[in-house]
Formats: sequence, structure tokens, C-alpha cells
Amino acid sequence: MAVGVVTGGNRGIGKAIAVMLVKNGYDVVFTYRSGEKEAMETAEQLHQYGNAEFHKMDVTNWEEVKKTFDNIGNKYGGIDVLVNNAGIVGKYTSLNTITIEDWQKVIEVNLSGVFYCCKAALPYLIKAKGCIINMSSIAGKEGGSIGAHYAASKAGVIGITFSLAKELAKYGIRVNAVAPGPVDTGLLSEEIKEKLKELSPLKRIAKPEEIAHAVKFLIENEYVTGEVLDINGGRYMD
Ligand SMILES: NC(=O)c1ccc[n+]([C@@H]2O[C@H](COP(=O)([O-])OP(=O)(O)OC[C@H]3O[C@@H](n4cnc5c(N)ncnc54)[C@H](OP(=O)(O)O)[C@@H]3O)[C@@H](O)[C@H]2O)c1
Repeated sequence: MAVGVVTGGNRGIGKAIAVMLVKNGYDVVFTYRSGEKEAMETAEQLHQYGNAEFHKMDVTNWEEVKKTFDNIGNKYGGIDVLVNNAGIVGKYTSLNTITIEDWQKVIEVNLSGVFYCCKAALPYLIKAKGCIINMSSIAGKEGGSIGAHYAASKAGVIGITFSLAKELAKYGIRVNAVAPGPVDTGLLSEEIKEKLKELSPLKRIAKPEEIAHAVKFLIENEYVTGEVLDINGGRYMD
């Protein structure tokens, strides 16, 4: 049985990806940082379709990340799919107000976290000839209202994706990213969602399941690597 690991899978986009994976026959391992109640509820939902387990893991803590991936890799013998989804927005959005702590936190979670998870999962991805999907954002390609720290972290995720796609191809490992526009999750306030939906010609933001669908494509198409897939309701047409 193939195994898929999703970071930040207890809610939002990560949860939709976990549901997509289990419905497609994967054993699913998802992680969370603090939302244990949501993790239990998500696991209950996943168990309707197949096998799932969850681990508490802070992606910014290298030792914890290494230990968690060793546990998963040893239990399942390999990792077929790694989805680096966990992410945050900062408290503030402008250069004037973003604190040094806020900058470091966003970079640590959104960028270093992806690096740590890829590094810890590598031996198990090699065993399974697995693939990696990293969650970037439209902000990583064109900046945006969430702030320079968020945009820089998501542009960095694209850099990691390109670099690892070249480096890991020799193991048969493909590495891709998804760059969503705004998605209907708890990451954005209702006020911001209302504003952002006007930017798309479709006049709405994405559903988490529509991002999971893009992840499914990147898992299944064996000739796609080093790709950043835009899912943004036509934002680039103007
Ligand atoms: N929503 C959007 O509009 C949008 C658009 C483009 C890209 N994205 C990206 O998509 C990803 C998922 O976003 P979302 O909208 O689903 O957000 P969300 O609903 O706020 O979920 C974020 C997830 O990340 C986890 N997480 C946060 N900090 C963590 C840490 N230090 N260690 C481990 N896990 C951590 C959270 O776990 P806990 O619940 O336990 O805290 C939660 O599972 C993020 O990378 C985000 O940047 C989102």
C-alpha cells in the first residue's frame, strides 16, 4: 500500500489533500502543530475511507521532524508522496509593521519547514521512488497584500522545488509545487476573502478541494517535475 504524508493536514487545504489521498487508496499520515481536536476529527473522517494516522510535529523543530519521518519511514518502509503544506501568515503585513520576530517566524515555518521535511523524508522517498509537492502561493510569484515575509517564504519554496527537482531526478523522485490564489480556509479573514474574490475573473476564491485536485494531478502525471502549478481562477489573464 502506498503512503502519503501531509504536513498541516488537520484542517484547511492539508485536510482536503489528506481526504483526496485516502479516497485514492493511500495510507495517510498527516501532521499538525497544535490543533489536536481538529486532527482527531479529521482522522475520524479519513477512517471512513481507509487507513490514517496523525502525529504532532512542529515543522520548525528539526529534531522533531527527523524523529517523526524516521518513525513513519520505518513503519511503512518508504514514503510515496510528501506534501509540504503546513504554513502561516504573519501578524502584520507592511514593511513598517512586520517585526523581526514575525519575519523570522514566517520564514522558519513556511520555508525552513519545507527544507527540514524534504531532508528528513529523503531516505524514505528514495526507497519508494516517491514524489514531493510543496505548497507555494500566488504571493511567491507576484507579491501581495499578506506581506514581504510571506511572499519571500513562498518564493523560496519555488526555489527549493526547482533545485530539488533537478537534484533528486536521479532517484526517480519528482518535485513540484502548487501556487494557489486565495483559498477558503481559516488562514484568511472573511473581510480579506471578500476583497480577494474580486481579483479573479471567476469572482470567487478557491475551495480547498480544488487545490487537492491539483496535487492529485502532480502525483499522478509521471512526466511532470520542476513545475509550479497555478490555481488562481484566471488571475494571470489580465
Ligand atoms: N488559504 C489560502 O488562501 C492559501 C493560498 C495560497 C497558499 N496557501 C498555503 O497553503 C497552505 C495551507 O494553508 P491553509 O489555508 O490550509 O491554512 P490553515 O487552514 O491555517 O492551516 C495551516 C496548517 O498548517 C499547520 N501549521 C502551522 N504552523 C505549523 C508549524 N509550525 N508546524 C507544523 N504545522 C504547522 C497548522 O496546524 P495547526 O492547526 O495544528 O496549527 C494547519 O494544519 C499554507 O502553506 C499556505 O501558505 C494558502
